[in-house]
Amino acid sequence: MASRSQVVLVTGASSGIGKAVASAFQSKGFTVFGTSRKPAQAAAIPGVEFVELDVTVPNSVSTAVATVIERAGGIDILINNAGVVLLGAAEESSVTQALQLFDTNFFGLVRLTNEVLPHLRAQGGGRIINIGSAMGFLPAPYTAFYGASKYAIEGYSESLDHETREFDIRVSVVEPGYTRTSIDAQMMEPDSPIATYAVRRQNAHQVFVKAMETADEPAIVAKVVIKAATSRKPKIRYPAGRAASALSRLKRFGPGAALDLGIRRANKLPPTASRSTTPTPLHGTPEVGKPSPPPRSLAVPPT
Ligand SMILES: NC(=O)c1ccc[n+]([C@@H]2O[C@H](COP(=O)([O-])OP(=O)(O)OC[C@H]3O[C@@H](n4cnc5c(N)ncnc54)[C@H](OP(=O)(O)O)[C@@H]3O)[C@@H](O)[C@H]2O)c1
Repeated sequence: MASRSQVVLVTGASSGIGKAVASAFQSKGFTVFGTSRKPAQAAAIPGVEFVELDVTVPNSVSTAVATVIERAGGIDILINNAGVVLLGAAEESSVTQALQLFDTNFFGLVRLTNEVLPHLRAQGGGRIINIGSAMGFLPAPYTAFYGASKYAIEGYSESLDHETREFDIRVSVVEPGYTRTSIDAQMMEPDSPIATYAVRRQNAHQVFVKAMETADEPAIVAKVVIKAATSRKPKIRYPAGRAASALSRLKRFGPGAALDLGIRRANKLPPTASRSTTPTPLHGTPEVGKPSPPPRSLAVPPT
């Protein structure tokens, strides 16, 4: 790796997790570049230089990476953070909309990776940290395509890490749970809404909004990103925050049936499939005779 100060490129650094990650690296003495589609409007982060980037536009990706390399002399650590969320029943999104989501959350990350990898190989090493989600190992209802995009990141990252390890390039996925950011401000709505799902979709949104009130601070995720990027023996997966860590353990070691029930309860879905079940109204009263509560960590489902 280069002997100069290590250079970090953080995609989507204008807010939320990306902003906290850029700031955390800067405070540790790294040379940090953050990106935004509108860098002039992005809130300044002391010591962090912004470059323009839209991860869905190939030219924008190559220009942004070339700009950073020209200004800093290289890139050592790529943080693929840019992402959007889509909330709605799986059936309510067209394939076109699903492709749009994947274009940002998954293929955007692939574009950046493909652009940066030749430089990392040429300089003899580097790190790539992909921001996944607890939903990338534990899917939740009404976020099928978001979860699928995060599952894609998991699989892609694990393959890539095997392929690049011999070049001293390591790849890790950081998996946050709910984190207090403005991700809901850019939340995509389903393009083919179906009335049957309306109440449950609103419930899911309500759960999301409620969970945000007590969600982890982005700084918690930033700390885990730094750990992943600087560890001498990096792991492939890093759950970030208490809820994500607990859920990760539950997914691996917990009883599947309890996990299934917990996810349904946390998302206000009836415990069993039933044609006669009517959607729970918002703030609906608890059902009589319901089973004992799921593990506490499931009361806040991940994003
Ligand atoms: N918040 C959570 O609860 C949570 C939980 C798990 C995982 N995550 C993941 O964490 C990452 C960051 O999310 P956040 O919560 O911090 O949300 P956020 O505050 O909305 O930040 C998202 C960032 O992504 C950028 N972005 C969106 N579309 C882009 C595009 N096409 N090209 C380039 N940049 C784009 C935005 O930058 P500009 O608009 O300035 O271009 C923004 O800086 C996402 O991958 C998300 O899936 C979040």
